Amino acid sequence: MQKILVTGAVGQIGSELTMVLRKRHGNENVIATGHKRKPYKTLLESGPFHFIDCTKINTVAEPVKRYKVDTIYHLASILSVVAEGQPQLAWNVNMIGLYNVLEVARNYKCRVFDPSSISAFGPTTPLNNTPQDTTQRPNTMYGVTKVAGELLCDYYFKRFGVDTRGVRYPGLISYKTLPSGGTTDYAVEIYYAAIKQRKYTCYLKKGTYLDMMYMPDALKAATDLMEANPAKLKHRNAFNVTAMSVAPEDFAAEIKKIIPGFTMDFKIDSLRQAIADSWPNNMDDTRAREEWGWQPEYDLESMTKDMIENISQKCKMKID
Ligand code: SER
Repeated sequence: MQKILVTGAVGQIGSELTMVLRKRHGNENVIATGHKRKPYKTLLESGPFHFIDCTKINTVAEPVKRYKVDTIYHLASILSVVAEGQPQLAWNVNMIGLYNVLEVARNYKCRVFDPSSISAFGPTTPLNNTPQDTTQRPNTMYGVTKVAGELLCDYYFKRFGVDTRGVRYPGLISYKTLPSGGTTDYAVEIYYAAIKQRKYTCYLKKGTYLDMMYMPDALKAATDLMEANPAKLKHRNAFNVTAMSVAPEDFAAEIKKIIPGFTMDFKIDSLRQAIADSWPNNMDDTRAREEWGWQPEYDLESMTKDMIENISQKCKMKID
């Protein structure tokens, strides 16, 4: 039986991944950890929860030691927009935090899942059909920490034999927990706005294509990769994974099929537009498909249907 520690368990990915892992491995075997944000009732009541600070190694080591943890899903991270506002904080949390997790993993013989992101690419990367192995010169602090994180994870694998694995997540869309301070947040906001106000003002321009993925696929990517046969992995940190390449007007058109009165206008945010322009339009995820059988289930149409159904229920609003 695995003993798993999840950092960032109160965040957008962590809040859902923790529950998936608890269902699969048993509630008591998945230790959720957060920093400041109050954990949800279900997260708190379904299994162990601890507050930690990844930048302080002892707070990471303590639950790992206490529960004899053998696998860490390290999801605590500062996203792109917040990182541009507070680059020093982002370096501290994203890099020192990861270094501490890897050191703890080395000392206590844990496996580590550490997500990278589309932000690990930059303006000099081929933006279409972005290859698995290509130029990575990001110009954001978030991207710098993600590339450095990929390298550090590979280093710990080669140098110390720590079983590290990761994926480059695209923009993640979910109805349960909101993202906090990313460039792709609009892809979640648009659904809430469509249901609550029937209109949305988008901060990215028409034609800004980015890779996106529905949360159930993102969770599957993490667990499938961690369960993959290591002998088949030629890459480790980190695999391109995508489910769809979408621009704002594509979301709007799909939403309109279910909410015909929905309208969208634009008020461009120059910071987020510049970040989005430096990221791929669509990544090539052939390596993930070949090495561990990656296959997304949701496309824009099925995701939109599910998002609208679930947010309407959550907000107790009828779609007519
Ligand atoms: N969703 C992230 C962001 O926008 C990208 O990894 O920052």
